[in-house]
Amino acid sequence: MPRPKKKAPGLCVGVVGASGMVGRELLAVLEKSRFPVGDLKVFSSGRGVKSLLFRGRRLPLSAPSLSALRGCRLAFFVSSDEVSRRWAPALAAAGVWVIDDSSAFRLDPRVPLIIPEINAAALRPHRRLIAGPNCTMSGLGLAAAALDRTAGLKEVRAASYQAVSGAGQAALRELLFQARSVTGRLRAERADRFAPALRSLRAGVLPRAIAFNAVPQVGGFAADGYSGEELKVAAELRKVLGAPRLSVSVTAVRVPTLRGHALAAWLGFKRPLSVARARAALKNAPGVVMMSPSDYPTPAGCAGRTEAFVGRLRRGARANEIALWVVSDNLLKGAASNSLQIAQELLRRGWL
Ligand SMILES: NC(=O)c1ccc[n+]([C@@H]2O[C@H](COP(=O)([O-])OP(=O)(O)OC[C@H]3O[C@@H](n4cnc5c(N)ncnc54)[C@H](OP(=O)(O)O)[C@@H]3O)[C@@H](O)[C@H]2O)c1
Repeated sequence: MPRPKKKAPGLCVGVVGASGMVGRELLAVLEKSRFPVGDLKVFSSGRGVKSLLFRGRRLPLSAPSLSALRGCRLAFFVSSDEVSRRWAPALAAAGVWVIDDSSAFRLDPRVPLIIPEINAAALRPHRRLIAGPNCTMSGLGLAAAALDRTAGLKEVRAASYQAVSGAGQAALRELLFQARSVTGRLRAERADRFAPALRSLRAGVLPRAIAFNAVPQVGGFAADGYSGEELKVAAELRKVLGAPRLSVSVTAVRVPTLRGHALAAWLGFKRPLSVARARAALKNAPGVVMMSPSDYPTPAGCAGRTEAFVGRLRRGARANEIALWVVSDNLLKGAASNSLQIAQELLRRGWL
């Protein structure tokens, strides 16, 4: 007689979008963590790869279904706004804790938008649908929160340098394809040939060709000229910091880096703030690595790290203004590791 299957100890956890870029990072951080995953159910579109490895076991990927997801205690959504809208509220209403990395619910007043180092206190036992932040905002948010506590943040101006992985697998594929198609034809000593080669690249997933380029459009443009990403960063920063009147102006730019979003930011304060005090505050801030004055972070240097790295700290041109450069890995602190931290916080509180 076959023996009954031994039930794995730990929680039943679902990951919707497990085969995507954030999904794979999430599986990797869960695997490395001591988070008590018992059964892991992984979901995808059903059209791509058929299985994934987790802790040495091969798990079959399938399209999500309410019946399979309802058996989970916790579900991570790392797929798309549309998929999250379709499944996440119903699951949360059915008692499953849902941590959603899409932008579908981030600004919903009933949904806590959480960066645990900043606002874990906003978690509530009856709010089972929880949103993770926009990946461009998370690093800036950590630095801004630390300085806000010190001198009262009044204004944020920033320009982002966003990696292509922030736009998903298809965009990354497009960058690699375009880069190969150009590098095969060019030699450094013949810069005169670059212009036609660059102009011959065609846009696909992103609004312009991204290889060897910088594209000042992330998302669609609103009537006031701001892009979707710029508006998200501003609105989410206000929500996470609990500062509805914070003045924010961002220019979001996609650059052909692979992973890691960087921002040059100018932060204005209500009270005087010296560079030395700002440096001390950032050194002590949870989740922040303050680089030494002789060093600075880069997206490549921060790839695979879960903290936000700050460098180039200096006085701004205005009174009570600090200028800085902040870099964080969009797939980790911008999504997967932040979501795991939220789950760990729920566990610590005994809510899972
Ligand atoms: N990339 C980032 O830096 C980042 C940062 C923060 C938040 N986010 C958010 O995280 C989510 C995932 O982003 P990503 O960059 O990982 O995207 P991605 O690489 O394009 O992956 C998308 C995932 O969703 C799955 N999927 C597609 N349609 C589905 C459906 N109908 N039902 C179930 N699964 C479906 C895909 O499955 P297949 O493999 O089968 O196609 C894949 O696993 C998005 O909501 C994004 O806004 C991304």
